[in-house]
Amino acid sequence: MPQTQFIDDATRVFQVKNITKTYQMGEVAVQALRGINLELFRGELTVLLGASGSGKSTLLNILGGLDTPTTGQVLYHSKKGDIDLSHASEQELTYYRRFNVGFVFQFYNLIPSLTALENIAVVTEIAESHMTPEEALEMVGLSERLNHFPAQLSGGEQQRVAIARAIAKKPDVLLCDEPTGALDSTTGIRVLEALQKINRELGTSTAIITHNASIAQMANRIIHLADGQISQFYENEQRLNPHDLSW
Ligand SMILES: Nc1ncnc2c1ncn2[C@@H]1O[C@H](COP(=O)(O)OP(=O)(O)OP(=O)(O)O)[C@@H](O)[C@H]1O
Ligand SMILES: [Mg+2]
Repeated sequence: MPQTQFIDDATRVFQVKNITKTYQMGEVAVQALRGINLELFRGELTVLLGASGSGKSTLLNILGGLDTPTTGQVLYHSKKGDIDLSHASEQELTYYRRFNVGFVFQFYNLIPSLTALENIAVVTEIAESHMTPEEALEMVGLSERLNHFPAQLSGGEQQRVAIARAIAKKPDVLLCDEPTGALDSTTGIRVLEALQKINRELGTSTAIITHNASIAQMANRIIHLADGQISQFYENEQRLNPHDLSW
């Protein structure tokens, strides 16, 4: 795995230093991020809130190595060393994503012709250290659905398969962009319970984007974005379990 210089830092998983992101669309420059400073802590669950277009996905994609900032620095700290994501090569970012990051998106992106088990096996075959597809599905409460195809699963179950796929490689970081966006409250709560369990039992540092402010009550830390900047960033003293959220 590519590494840059070692900085002794056991508690912080990300340090974001004054990043901006500008998308050039022909003549028009879109400023998606306008000077973000942020520290995320190892093992914590963070919720990102903010209006549509405020920059949430842009920030999450930069943390996940899917995109890079225009200016500023993003450091990822791990036990194996540190990576400067803002100055990493494409290949370094590919390795970073492959070995350290799990992604969950609003739409599940499962392969329709593969069963739940096979959808996960696709990933475990290329990962370094991982659980078996069966273990991953058990973590999200789907041991009874191993051989179902996506079309034979409910939306919430499909999302839990997608979560199992993301965590099967035991990623250090789990990044979720509106994971309950397409789900009703009962189903969404099952999905959030799976995310909370993974955060607690595996210690996976987790960030969740949502439009539902009540979900923030399950977080250690809450970030509000507004117009490409952080408008609020605070710790949540009383974390609620997903089924106690006032959805
Ligand atoms: N690839 C891109 N090319 C050009 N502009 C982009 C791109 N991605 C995002 N933007 C713009 O950057 C701004 C921030 O977008 P972003 O997707 O981060 O918002 P968001 O907070 O995730 O919104 P939503 O809640 O609707 O998903 C928006 O104005 C958007 O149009
Ligand atoms: Mg978004």
